[in-house]
Amino acid sequence: MRHSFHRADDRPPIVLLGVTGSIAAYKAAEIARALIRGGVRVRVVMTPAAERFVTPLTFEALTGSPAITERSASGPEISHIAAAREAAALLIAPATAHTIAKIALGLADNLLSEIALATTAPVFVAPAMNVEMYGHPATQANVATLRARGVTVFDPVAGELACGESGVGRLADPERIAQGVLRTVLKAGDLEGESFLVTAGPTREPIDPVRFISNRSSGRMGYAVAAAALARGARVRLVTGPVSLPAPPGAEVTRVETGSEMAEAVDRAIPASTVLVMAAAVSDWRPESPAGRKIKKGPGAPRIDLVQNPDILEKACRNKGGRIVVGFAAETDDLLAHAREKLARKGVDLLVANDVSSPDSGFDVETNRAVFFMADGAEESLPLMTKDRLADLILDHVRAIRLEGETRSVGARDRFENQ
Ligand code: CTP
Repeated sequence: MRHSFHRADDRPPIVLLGVTGSIAAYKAAEIARALIRGGVRVRVVMTPAAERFVTPLTFEALTGSPAITERSASGPEISHIAAAREAAALLIAPATAHTIAKIALGLADNLLSEIALATTAPVFVAPAMNVEMYGHPATQANVATLRARGVTVFDPVAGELACGESGVGRLADPERIAQGVLRTVLKAGDLEGESFLVTAGPTREPIDPVRFISNRSSGRMGYAVAAAALARGARVRLVTGPVSLPAPPGAEVTRVETGSEMAEAVDRAIPASTVLVMAAAVSDWRPESPAGRKIKKGPGAPRIDLVQNPDILEKACRNKGGRIVVGFAAETDDLLAHAREKLARKGVDLLVANDVSSPDSGFDVETNRAVFFMADGAEESLPLMTKDRLADLILDHVRAIRLEGETRSVGARDRFENQ
């Protein structure tokens, strides 16, 4: 695979690997190795506590560069701020409860916490600690703060811990951590130049001022696509229905309530966009004439007449031009047949279908099991995975469709010029 690094010197990007004082510190060596194998350069930054578990020499031997420690950085030759600037990502693995708390608060009392504050690169954190420490509300709140700020957290796994107890607290698999970081770092910038318009969440269709028709969409899938597109260098406009998620940092956000408002917001933003990802669960119907006042309880049940909402995706596909359009299909039964029909009817480049009747896939959960339907008839069934991972795979397809389109148009131009 050829990677485009978008760097002045075109050398592989640097991952800063922060190692803290956990018994799992030795596993950082395995992570460093996997990162280097994956094609990046690694610089290790150690906290003083980490040096009690593993020596800087181990990392120097593995990475080919001296580890940055409090002592080494006291000389004029190493500027940790420079280190923070040149890094394509900061990965803290293992991360202790103490380091996580400091980063959540913005405290900077050692090199690693200063770098975490100074870097503008994507940050990854892999916690490892005693089960009670990890489960403590303070740690959980700090982890949630980091996530809300856009930090990727590799959740620790269950197992026997060094302290003799067992439970969730073991460092996630080193290979999985390395692959997660590599995916971001090596793809950083591959969607530069694209302007994404992403819709997310449900819509609310008012019955009266206090009641509405809506659905179970949490917005997670659309927000994951928006965050992943930003991480890969795209501009992102996020048109979102009411959800309780923090907006991905860097996205331009338009908040809407109803399907008609969403249709208007998409109409306004679509001319400037090169990719549309319609992840919103737009309500198909709305009450024809919502009451201006709260409907009072009478002897019988009120009658609510519904009319159809505009189909935003279908309209966008009628006027597609060079824009890549991704649609979703939420199904409870006969997924394949419904999705194939939807692909043909809507005319999208990629349809992501998922079975929302299963408890681990679809609405309001972190994971999804999806099937991709491509415009050329190709289909791909994917295993259960997080919505973040699925978002990345959707973007891989968008990228592939764009490259294929460029190749085709270059081919056509060559043919034309050779005539
Ligand atoms: N969609 C849209 N506008 C609507 C309804 C849906 O743009 N009024 C989009 C959704 O964002 C999604 C795709 O169309 O990307 C499919 O949505 P879905 O509800 O599964 O399909 P429908 O077309 O509504 O068909 P059905 O309800 O019969 O399954």
